Amino acid sequence: MHESHEIVTQSVAETKQIASKFVKKLHGGEVIALYGDLGSGKTTFTQGIAGELGIKRHINSPTFILLRTYDVVSHPKIKRLYHLDLYRTQTAQDIEGLGLYEIMEEKDAIIVIEWPEKIGNKIPDQSIMIRFDYVDENKRKITFV
Ligand SMILES: Nc1ncnc2c1ncn2[C@@H]1O[C@H](COP(=O)(O)OP(=O)(O)OP(=O)(O)O)[C@@H](O)[C@H]1O
Ligand SMILES: [Mg+2]
Repeated sequence: MHESHEIVTQSVAETKQIASKFVKKLHGGEVIALYGDLGSGKTTFTQGIAGELGIKRHINSPTFILLRTYDVVSHPKIKRLYHLDLYRTQTAQDIEGLGLYEIMEEKDAIIVIEWPEKIGNKIPDQSIMIRFDYVDENKRKITFV
């Protein structure tokens, strides 16, 4: 995806549907950075990714656990989904303890990061950036940057 591309979804289901289409383009090794305010749809999108990968466990916004790992059994190349929510991280040490820079090298996993701005320029250059904006109660704008 080279050009910026945006879509306004009308429901949670549609946001998940966009996510599931998006996953079909991935091969493993991708870092996906989700930008946007509280309640803008980042976790909902992640649930759509997980659904497409056949993950049955419920994905929510981790409260104290910053990183969750989900095994993937139904994809030829992607064997794990890492879901990271950096909202509550305060210090560089919080982040270093996660082993994030190691998991970013794994070619048979994908990593979804909510609040990636918390680690600023440490996000790999080739990360896929997606921005979420609240439009109204049921609508969210999703921009593939
Ligand atoms: N079109 C839509 N797409 C996604 N979510 C929607 C949509 N319309 C309404 N919502 C609601 O918006 C909220 C999105 O919450 P979600 O947890 O996905 O946000 P988030 O960006 O992960 O927030 P946080 O930064 O707090 O983790 C949910 O309550 C969901 O029901
Ligand atoms: Mg969230």
